[in-house]
Amino acid sequence: MRKKIVAGNWKMNLDYSEGLALFSEVTNMVKDEATGNQQVVVCSPFIHLHSLAQLTKGYTHVAVGAQNAHQAESGAYTGEVSAKQVKSTGAEYVILGHSERRQYFGESNELLAKKTDTALANGLKPIFCIGETLQEREANQHFDIIKSQLMEGVFHLDADKFGQIVLAYEPVWAIGTGVTATSDQAQEIHAFIRAELAAKYGQQVADDITILYGGSCNPKNAAELFACADIDGGLIGGASLKSRDFTDIVKAFN
Ligand code: G3H
Repeated sequence: MRKKIVAGNWKMNLDYSEGLALFSEVTNMVKDEATGNQQVVVCSPFIHLHSLAQLTKGYTHVAVGAQNAHQAESGAYTGEVSAKQVKSTGAEYVILGHSERRQYFGESNELLAKKTDTALANGLKPIFCIGETLQEREANQHFDIIKSQLMEGVFHLDADKFGQIVLAYEPVWAIGTGVTATSDQAQEIHAFIRAELAAKYGQQVADDITILYGGSCNPKNAAELFACADIDGGLIGGASLKSRDFTDIVKAFN
């Protein structure tokens, strides 16, 4: 049975002590909520990773992730952080291809394919984000966009490597806007993604991949979204900064 994940993406928020305080609250609140094949992941800024990873010890269903990692193994890339460095903090996951990285930092599918390879080579599990803009949806291009993001970003992986990634569908028009995709809209895309995975890798691989929904997910809409057949949890931005809201989203699994 595939893993169910609620992942928080703190983005560029919280100073060091604020991050530790929030994480302690969250781990305490979710420790009895995530069970079985469910996992809670907190993707923090780099500054928190090592300390948060230390705090996850003793919580089998809580893990830590980064929000980015460089495509090179190491070298003269001032200000960047490598996948190996991320892994050495105790982090298990890394978000790649978030629309904010694509939009503000010009990250292309081609670059993201390299980042995915480097992350996997260093033992990190990529949470690979895909999703269309409002303009693309209005032009009825969303299926084509999703397909090309998959083909160019991750379909070069062999089935074994592909089985180690998590996908996150995040319609750009739903991120931070308060306008979430309806459960029908989200399920339609998730089913499309899973069908593309089945065509490429076979039904078993497609059935085993966790596909998260992200974009204005909150305690009110999470249960309906997570009840959809092909939605295996969420990638949560704003609501992950509030321990009560984040915990209520984790509870929506049940
Ligand atoms: O990575 C998370 C997404 O960008 C969703 O952000 O929940 O604030 O809309 P949001």
